[in-house]
Amino acid sequence: MGQYDGKRVVITGGTSGLGLATAKLLLDQGARVLVTGRTKKALDSAREELGKNAIVMSSDATVLTDIDALAARVKSEFGAVDFLFLNAGYGKFVPFEGTSEAVYDEMFNLNMKGPYFAAQKLAPLMPRGSAIVLTTSAANVKGIPMLSAYGAAKAALRSLARSLAAELLPRGIRVNAILIGLVESGQWERRAAATGAKVTDFYQSTAHTARVPLGRFGLADEFADLCAFLLSARASYVTGAGINLDGGLSLVP
Ligand SMILES: NC(=O)c1ccc[n+]([C@@H]2O[C@H](COP(=O)([O-])OP(=O)(O)OC[C@H]3O[C@@H](n4cnc5c(N)ncnc54)[C@H](OP(=O)(O)O)[C@@H]3O)[C@@H](O)[C@H]2O)c1
Repeated sequence: MGQYDGKRVVITGGTSGLGLATAKLLLDQGARVLVTGRTKKALDSAREELGKNAIVMSSDATVLTDIDALAARVKSEFGAVDFLFLNAGYGKFVPFEGTSEAVYDEMFNLNMKGPYFAAQKLAPLMPRGSAIVLTTSAANVKGIPMLSAYGAAKAALRSLARSLAAELLPRGIRVNAILIGLVESGQWERRAAATGAKVTDFYQSTAHTARVPLGRFGLADEFADLCAFLLSARASYVTGAGINLDGGLSLVP
């Protein structure tokens, strides 16, 4: 018996990093899990890692017809959704002057528009007592150079958590956001590879850890624990919150 037995879970961006760690935790505790991703390589490796009890679906979080197809698949597979974790996202490091309209749209389409419409299309499948978690970023409260479009999109997403918490409250759906600082995940592994660094050296490099009061990257499993808690009935008195999982990063200038 697991503490999430039979819970029906949908995770966008669940093929890597924080979404994958959360999918694994919930599957291990008895949940039924559907994850989405976009690239074939990540979809294939998630199928391998999660095993046959999980559904791994190709669905681009920025494309409304894909979101419709996701809602239809979830309806036919599960009938309803207890936990919705809208997590697909990434940031592009680009100087403000060099941010093109295409980069601006990419950041807002992925980090704000996608979760907005995914929540809109999937909320009708969510019963009383269900919950949504949105993944935001320290960039939505800190001014971080090179992340102006991403930070603004994640700040809009934080705002959406408040609005949806209020609007979905009468339907018994809780909505919260988790603000991430530096947490080990696929995106950092790719950045390490791009610089030619070993990923363990990259995570220990003071260029990163010196910025974090707790002095280290967070772990994807630490994120998964918090996310699973917020989705569960143990957090039944928490809605509209933005919880920091950032080792104190957003508290210092
Ligand atoms: N890790 C951190 O330090 C950190 C810090 C601040 C915020 N965050 C936020 O945390 C969330 C998870 O990121 P992560 O760190 O776990 O990175 P990750 O390991 O790269 O995982 C990102 C996930 O999102 C998926 N994804 C990206 N674009 C997508 C799209 N258009 N449609 C569908 N899926 C898409 C990826 O699948 P594909 O690879 O197939 O596209 C992957 O499954 C993101 O919202 C990110 O902005 C993370």
